[in-house]
Amino acid sequence: MEQYIIEGGTPLVGEVVIGGAKNAALGILAAAIMTDGQCMIDNMPNVRDTNVLLQAMEGIGARVVRKGDNEVLISGKCIDSSGELLVDNEYIRKIRASYYLIGALLGKYKKAKAALPGGCDIGSRPIDQHIKGFRALGADVRIEHGMIMAEAEELRGSHIYLDVVSVGATINIMMAASLAIGNTIIENAAKEPHIVDVANFLNSMGANIKGAGTDVIRIKGVEKFHDTEYSIIPDQIEAGTFMMAAAATRGDVLIRNVIPKHLEAISAKLNEIGAVVEEWDDAVRVAATRRLKHTQIKTLPYPGFPTDMQPQIAVTLGLSKGTSIITESIFENRFRYVDEMRRMGANIKVVDGNTAIISGVERYTGATVETPDLRAGAALVIAGLAAEGYTTVNNIGYIQRGYERFDEKLRGLGGMIEKVDSEREANKYIYKTGTVD
Ligand code: UD1
Repeated sequence: MEQYIIEGGTPLVGEVVIGGAKNAALGILAAAIMTDGQCMIDNMPNVRDTNVLLQAMEGIGARVVRKGDNEVLISGKCIDSSGELLVDNEYIRKIRASYYLIGALLGKYKKAKAALPGGCDIGSRPIDQHIKGFRALGADVRIEHGMIMAEAEELRGSHIYLDVVSVGATINIMMAASLAIGNTIIENAAKEPHIVDVANFLNSMGANIKGAGTDVIRIKGVEKFHDTEYSIIPDQIEAGTFMMAAAATRGDVLIRNVIPKHLEAISAKLNEIGAVVEEWDDAVRVAATRRLKHTQIKTLPYPGFPTDMQPQIAVTLGLSKGTSIITESIFENRFRYVDEMRRMGANIKVVDGNTAIISGVERYTGATVETPDLRAGAALVIAGLAAEGYTTVNNIGYIQRGYERFDEKLRGLGGMIEKVDSEREANKYIYKTGTVD
């Protein structure tokens, strides 16, 4: 099984270029089947999650033509809508966000069927708000034998209040409503940058969506969509991960191709704990020459501190002076990396399941650790880069779900990290880098 082997202790220095946003891409790729025209999508992150979604789309008959690593042409014209439009369980199991195909298919063909996604590595993840939205638009939604079936004679615009701020529900409802008859208002909508990006993409195909990025989204249904060309926004979380890697290793990194506004919550916290953060139009620089300080963080929907950055900042705070407190308010099972961090010498205690109390230590020491989920995996890699000695990170398939060429980008910053797929290769790497007898 593939693993990363890391020799820590080298501050990361240099420049890194951020790719397209995975979470925007998942919504946009799914929405692309809603036109019979052609969508040319650029700046697509070439990661496992987007690749699985593209396979799921091909599975329902969409045409997907890869043009190099980060560009793809999609057409929904060949989808045969006479059948049941089933999104195969295999894909839903691999990637929850294939449920965006439900909103896309329901909007376009007024029917969709998919396996109901279960819980996942970061907690139980209900989709009741998605279903509430589809029903409000007039769809008959049934759950039988582990499948979700949505169907409508026609979809009609509606006034929908989301009981919880949900990225997925906002995107799914926005897609279905944009081809409904009449007007829809989504209140208490999520405001993440990728909501705005999916709305912009839909608008580029002819949708009429206003207010994305605020908590009230207004959609005027249109009859059909047309061709488009679109470039996906940069990935806020990939950028944030490199910002934390710079801070935790006491390095100096210029992170290019970012939208600094999307990084404000992360930049503000780094500033607060004593890191240098400089911003340009499309780049941020993060540097840390001294030991950083402690702080308190609560994860919140955008523009609050992102839950997807929680493990990475925990690793940084684990090396900072004093006691930091992190409260996770979005997902219930997002501290599974803490046990792994302890093996590297971190002093972190989780209380009540949702609060981590972190007493900063002077240094981590390398160990063999297991990746519990995508972002925690990236955090463990950062810990390994900051630690003394060698760290082996197992289960890196999780990390590859969301980070393109992660090890290569880190090596470009001087990080001593290698992807290996056997113990023999790992030993070879250690022998080659040569600091162990
Ligand atoms: C998306 C992101 C994920 C990020 C999360 C929060 C994608 C593909 N994934 O996930 O990386 O961590 O936003 O920023 O974009 N909830 C309900 N009922 C619902 C839907 C959600 O109770 O119908 C709850 C969830 O359990 C969770 C909270 O709402 O506690 C937020 O979830 P949501 O914003 O929907 O997350 P995802 O879209 O799954």
